Amino acid sequence: MEKICGPQNTGKEVHSLEMDASKQRILTGIRPTGALHLGHYAGALENWVRLQEQYDCTFLIADYQALGDHVDDIEGIRQSVLDVTLDWLAVGLDPQRSTFCIQSYIPEHAELTMLLSMITPLGMLQRNPTLKSELQELGNRSPSVGFYNYPVSQVADILLPKANLVPTGDDQLPHIEMTREIARRFNRNYGQVFPEPQSLVGRASRLVGTDGQAKMSKSIGNCIYLSDDAEVVNRKVMDMYTDPTRIHATDPGHVEGNPVFIYHDTFNPDTDEVEELKERYQAGRVGDVEVKRKLASTLNDFLEPIRESRRYYERYPQLVRDALIEGTEHARTLARSTMNEVRDSMGISQYV
Ligand code: TRP
Repeated sequence: MEKICGPQNTGKEVHSLEMDASKQRILTGIRPTGALHLGHYAGALENWVRLQEQYDCTFLIADYQALGDHVDDIEGIRQSVLDVTLDWLAVGLDPQRSTFCIQSYIPEHAELTMLLSMITPLGMLQRNPTLKSELQELGNRSPSVGFYNYPVSQVADILLPKANLVPTGDDQLPHIEMTREIARRFNRNYGQVFPEPQSLVGRASRLVGTDGQAKMSKSIGNCIYLSDDAEVVNRKVMDMYTDPTRIHATDPGHVEGNPVFIYHDTFNPDTDEVEELKERYQAGRVGDVEVKRKLASTLNDFLEPIRESRRYYERYPQLVRDALIEGTEHARTLARSTMNEVRDSMGISQYV
C-alpha cells in the first residue's frame, strides 16, 4: 500500500471547487522563479495554509510576472511552475479546497491588464516604491515594458476573481494600494464592478538569509529550501553567519539580529530551549556549534513531513498537473464572467 502523505483525497474523482458565496475571497500569488524556501514558508505559506480553512482562496502562479525579467529563461520558469506547485502541495495547500492556477493560461488576465493600463496614470507606476527599488536593482539594464507594467498585471490578478483580501509581505503593500486606487477609478468611471481589496500581512513578513542579509534570495544563494535534504540543511546551518564579534565560545554573544536565533525563534517550537540557549549564549556559556546543531535538528524535524509529502507528489506527477489544470479551469470560468462584466460596463466590443 502506498502511504498517502499529502491531503488524503487528492484523487481525481472529486473536485469540489463550487463557489461558497458566504466566504470572503482571497487571491495571492508567487512568481515562479525557483523552488520555495523557509522565507516563503514563514512569510507566506504558513499563513496561506491556515487561511484556506476559512476563505475561498486562489493561489496564482504569476508566470507573466516572472517573464518580465526572465524572458530568456522560459525553461527555468517551466521547471519552477512545477517546483512551486510541489512545494504548495507539500506544505498542505489543498487543491480540493483552494484554486491553484497559472496566470498565462487565463487569457482574460492579459485582457484585463491591457484595459486597466488605460486608466492607470504612468505616474502611479513611477511613484510605486516597490517597483522603484526593483528598477534600481536592474542597474543600467533597461526594464522591459512588461516588467514596468507588472504592478498593473498584479492588479488584474487581484481584480479578476474580485478578491476581498490579499495576504502578502509588506513589500507588496504598494501594489495592493494601487489595486484599490484602480478599482475605485474603474468603479467611478464605469459603474460598480470591483470590490476594493484589503491586505493581510503574515506573522514574519521577511526572513533573513543564512548569511545574515535582509532576506533569503535565490540570486544571493542564502536560502534553505523546503526541498533541501537533511544533509544539505546541516551543512547550510553549520555555515550560517552568527555573531561576528564573538571569537570564542566564552565571549558573551549577541542574540538580537543573529540569524541563528531568528531561525530558532521562527521554527523551534520548544521556546524554553530557545530561551535557555539565548541566556547561555549571552553569558558566553554555549558555543555556536551547539546552537547550530540544535537549529539544524529543529529545521530537519520541521522539514521532514514536508519532504515526505513532496516525495509522494513527485511519485504522482499527474496529481500536480491535475491540481493546476482543474484549478486554472475553475479560475478561468470566473475570469470570463468578470471580463463580460468589464466589457459591458465599459462598452468595449460593442462598437458595431
Ligand atoms: N509580486 C508578488 C511577489 O513577488 C507575487 C504576486 C503576483 C502576487 N501576483 C500577485 C501577490 C497577486 C499577491 C497578489 O511576491
